[in-house]
Amino acid sequence: MVLWGGRFSEPTDEQLRALNDSIGFDRRMYRQDITGSMAYARAIAQAGIITTAEAEAITDGLKQVMAEFDGGMFEIKPGDEDIHTAVERRLTELVGAVGGKLHTGRSRNDQVATDFRLWVLDAAAEVDGLLAGLQIALIAQAENHRFTLMPGYTHLQPAQPITAAHWLLSFFWMLARDRDRLAETRRRTSVCPLGSGALAGTPFAVDRAALAQELGFADVSPNSLDAVSDRDFAAEFLFALALMGAHLSRLAEDLILYSNPRFGFITLDDRYSTGSSLMPQKRNADPMELARGKAGRLIGDLTGLLAVLKGLPSTYNKDLQEDKEAVFDAFDTANRLLPVVTAVIGTLRLNPEAMRAALTEDMLATDLADYLVARGLPFRQAHHIVGQVVQEAARQQAALSALPLETLKGFSDLFDAEVIKVFDFDAAVARRKAVGGTAPEAVLEQIKAAKARVGERV
Ligand code: ARG
Repeated sequence: MVLWGGRFSEPTDEQLRALNDSIGFDRRMYRQDITGSMAYARAIAQAGIITTAEAEAITDGLKQVMAEFDGGMFEIKPGDEDIHTAVERRLTELVGAVGGKLHTGRSRNDQVATDFRLWVLDAAAEVDGLLAGLQIALIAQAENHRFTLMPGYTHLQPAQPITAAHWLLSFFWMLARDRDRLAETRRRTSVCPLGSGALAGTPFAVDRAALAQELGFADVSPNSLDAVSDRDFAAEFLFALALMGAHLSRLAEDLILYSNPRFGFITLDDRYSTGSSLMPQKRNADPMELARGKAGRLIGDLTGLLAVLKGLPSTYNKDLQEDKEAVFDAFDTANRLLPVVTAVIGTLRLNPEAMRAALTEDMLATDLADYLVARGLPFRQAHHIVGQVVQEAARQQAALSALPLETLKGFSDLFDAEVIKVFDFDAAVARRKAVGGTAPEAVLEQIKAAKARVGERV
């Protein structure tokens, strides 16, 4: 029997039922649903709507329902439309008619909003923990490569030498912001809708503040119409995961490129590379290609939910039932992906020789311009002169340092014998020691800051 059958004389069409039912996926929220109901039973007992004995009977019954779910014994029956109806149906089977009192003043609208917020709060905390793990793996690699030099790129063209630690840590900070976003999302999710009724609020004297507190929420919703239809928290969670996905896809792309034999900068561990069924020599970075691809999926989950929310009339509409699968999918995706990315980073081998071999002196052209600047030339002019020097070296197919001093003097009489010192990659990197720079000295400070940041929250 459905819970709302009173005004109907015909049963629901079977195909509609299949479309309408959400039990297939929202059963994942059984724990939150039952916890919410236990708190609600106490709240309506305190308000004098049911007796203490009735509240106890309901709570005992709910404990049993929880145990059945925990043990994988809960049996879904026809008519169990969603997790809320399934729990109430089973409760009533177990404790009798008193089970039917639990829903007094409550609607599935405030119930589902409460359950889902509780679920997102837990999920966000779990993703946060996984992100912390990845951050720790990045720091550990960075610590070993403060003095490992590699080319830095802009426009994917060789630009300036950098330290490998600096490259690795760039992703640490992206993830730090992702974690901040999750924390912010949790803060706004921690608002309890229970006690909003279907839309207009509850006519019963339930202590909403106590209810919220018992469920671990920081606050109660200030407007019942908003409370039953607000899914901002779900959209924010999906945004945080989508942007995290974008960050992971960028890390993935670097790893794919740098593990390509043309680069050869890094080697993915055997356990995290895959072969080809046809070409015996192949060593593919599949996990990283999946990370890159999963970002698309996470973005899809976000845009899907936003499309559902757009233009909904006040207040609850069944469209909102579409909120959960997107969030579950995004969470599952993050949950499967992050441990693999963490392991890839943890087992990654950097090849310092190959990285250094990829450095070419044209990457020091900026430093050559800075050399002229130090001798009093305005940077714009220095830039132009060094451009000419680079062109001449290219014409002669020679490295910059191979150009005779006489040739250099032909471009500017500020060049002197000291110029040879410019062609030193380590020195070029070491000079960039201002906060946030690539120098090993600055990176040491960065590692300290990163450690403090992770330590704060793990
Ligand atoms: N399964 C529904 C959902 O996820 C629960 C709320 C149903 N409310 C309603 N008035 N039909 O949105």
